[in-house]
Amino acid sequence: MALKLNLVALPSHNLKSAKVFAASTMQYSTTRGSESTKRDSYWPAKEVHFQVTHSMPPEKIEIFKSMESWTTKNILTHLKPVEKSWQPQDFLPQADSEGFYEQVKELRERSKELPDDYFVVLVGDMITEEALPTYQTALNTLDGVRDETGASLSPWAVWNRGWTAEENRHGDLLNKYLYLSGRVDMRQIEKTIQYLIGCGMDFKFENNPYNFFIYTSFQERATFISHGNTARLAKRYGDAKLAQICGTIAADEKRHEIAYTMIAEKLFEIDPDATVLALADMMRKKIVMPALLMYDGQDDNLFENFSAVAQNLGVYTAKDYADNLEFLVGRWNVAGLTGLSSEGRRAQDFVCRLPSRIRRLEERAQEKAKQASTIPFSWIHGREVRV
Ligand SMILES: [Fe+2]
Ligand SMILES: [Fe+2]
Repeated sequence: MALKLNLVALPSHNLKSAKVFAASTMQYSTTRGSESTKRDSYWPAKEVHFQVTHSMPPEKIEIFKSMESWTTKNILTHLKPVEKSWQPQDFLPQADSEGFYEQVKELRERSKELPDDYFVVLVGDMITEEALPTYQTALNTLDGVRDETGASLSPWAVWNRGWTAEENRHGDLLNKYLYLSGRVDMRQIEKTIQYLIGCGMDFKFENNPYNFFIYTSFQERATFISHGNTARLAKRYGDAKLAQICGTIAADEKRHEIAYTMIAEKLFEIDPDATVLALADMMRKKIVMPALLMYDGQDDNLFENFSAVAQNLGVYTAKDYADNLEFLVGRWNVAGLTGLSSEGRRAQDFVCRLPSRIRRLEERAQEKAKQASTIPFSWIHGREVRV
């Protein structure tokens, strides 16, 4: 399929960065197109647009350079040494032991109590974790903090690789659990992962680390909430081992959230205007889960359908989104920021009012949920689940 390249007008909130920072802007029309290309291509299932690049003024790279020793002392300490880290094997049947088959049998017995909608959410969470190459790629697009060589000794690069190495265990563990449970269609799930990594993700970071640290603070907290809720539900359904798995992953996400929110906090201290503008900008663009472009070869609305099931089950809801924002706005004392430009004050005002606006949207979403229908998910052999 030919790539359609159009220059387009920017939305109003991007005008400043485009004009002042001379950011380049492209729109790739990436709808899947005809049915034949839709089946076999890696083109994203949704339109990817407004790909603004390098919106941070080059001189601000110095800010991140000046934060390096602070990062070594305060951020790298949030990575756990490998020898003290859990590994997926700690929670799974031991394939090299006599009792392996018995342990698998027990795992399958426990998983029998888990309902289909729970599996849809767990699979969607696992697929999101498994697209880790996309996230490490995103980290390494960022001006000032990217890993320039793949083995750079800058503390930002050490963090990027360490974070990736810790995250890599999440998808591994959930993937193996789901495989052994025998409750899901692994081939369809594996196809979805291949499609998703092939499609990538339009994070809208603009190579700008301010945007990135806002996004990841929000996102790590969202995954902490979401894995925490799948843990709570697993316990309720009687699978204590799975509850332990999800809870352990949630604890990792919490550590990452703490590190990213500390970096953003430091940016609010050093450069409050740029940081509050980045916060407002990322919120206007909406913080979406990184698996937005997931596709299984069948369902063009797979991400929305998965998200609707997560919402219905209470794993991650519009209320959680609003609570998450409210928490971070409080954590960074956004309302108390002083010395802002007029644009910064407008951004501050917008962000502080946003949680209540999102809550009104939540009420509407709940109305919609009342008229919910069911749809089949290929991940669970086409069985139907309420969306
Ligand atoms: Fe994770
Ligand atoms: Fe994470």
